[in-house]
Amino acid sequence: MKNSTLHIMTIVGARPQFVKASVLSRAIDRSNKSNTTQILETIIHTGQHYDTNMSKVFFDELAVPKPSINLNIGSGSHAVTTGKMLLGIERELQQKKPDWVLVYGDTNSTLSAALAAAKLHIPIIHIEAGLRSFNRKMPEEVNRVITDHLSTLLFCPSEASKANLAREGITNGVHVVGDVMYDATLYHRSQIFPVHREDAFALCTVHRSETTDEKKALASVFSALASCPIEVIVPLHPRTKKMLEFYEIKPSRNVTLVPPLPYLKLLEHLQACDFVITDSGGLQKEAYFFGKRCITVRHETEWTELVEIDANKLVGTDKNKIENAFLWATNPVDTTSIYGNGSAGEIIIQHILKTDQTTL
Ligand code: UD1
Repeated sequence: MKNSTLHIMTIVGARPQFVKASVLSRAIDRSNKSNTTQILETIIHTGQHYDTNMSKVFFDELAVPKPSINLNIGSGSHAVTTGKMLLGIERELQQKKPDWVLVYGDTNSTLSAALAAAKLHIPIIHIEAGLRSFNRKMPEEVNRVITDHLSTLLFCPSEASKANLAREGITNGVHVVGDVMYDATLYHRSQIFPVHREDAFALCTVHRSETTDEKKALASVFSALASCPIEVIVPLHPRTKKMLEFYEIKPSRNVTLVPPLPYLKLLEHLQACDFVITDSGGLQKEAYFFGKRCITVRHETEWTELVEIDANKLVGTDKNKIENAFLWATNPVDTTSIYGNGSAGEIIIQHILKTDQTTL
């Protein structure tokens, strides 16, 4: 370690990363109050998500420290956005020379940050390491495989993710710490108000390119929602909104489209809903945290533990399979936690402080 201040540069860009960053920022604050080694965290926002309701509301609501810079990358193809991020992140790393770069999950922002840091020999901390869908056609799978192979400290949410890394020969610096999203849910649970509703409803989100970009898949999901026996509330990701309009798919009357929800509102809906239908990675787990079953409209999941305990059913985008899962989904699940005890953030910070940088 250079001195008693450790500089961690956190790089985020997409909605779920703002939630995860709030957990670590809080853990850093607590650590600074009780440790002689002080952690200085600077945050870079790549600008991958830029709509107010996809970005700013999360920083405000979750009190994530304001990014020192927003690279304002915005939309574009994978190559264009990843390339622009690489340039912007490299510039920041060269100027600020952090001791560590910290990244979350599997987005293009994660990959760009990891690549830029690795080339400048700055060690990388990857939170949510070791997840695999084994589908290399998903951009997220490519991002997470490469990021894991470039990282020095790899924090896994579960034993299954640790085993995935071991199969790829990654065993050094790997720690199973639980899931930071579980920390976030437990922390904010007391701040939410139950949604008062007379009628049962299902909560549904879809945004992945595999679901939204093929007309057949997107139409099939919305056609299945039409036969859901209860109302379906769909907070609409901008990508999905765009594609529904482009393909002229009209949701049925039992489907209520709403704008993307702020984090606490999302938790309120999770608490009140009967079950969840999604292609999101995060929501599959959040459904479980609230004891709700999840119909996953994908063919594979990174959260295989949830399928094994029958909390999650993989149905793809096949209309009949989705419809057949509605009855199964109405039963609650037992939520004995398989993702830690809500202190993943603290455990991660302890490991970082214990790692002797002179040995890297
Ligand atoms: C990204 C991540 C995904 C993560 C998700 C969370 C990648 C490859 N994917 O997917 O892993 O689960 O974020 O939400 O990094 N758009 C807007 N406004 C915004 C943001 C996006 O209109 O604020 C539009 C973009 O123009 C683009 C589309 O939505 O056309 C998709 O955005 P993008 O960031 O590429 O991927 P996500 O689907 O959000």
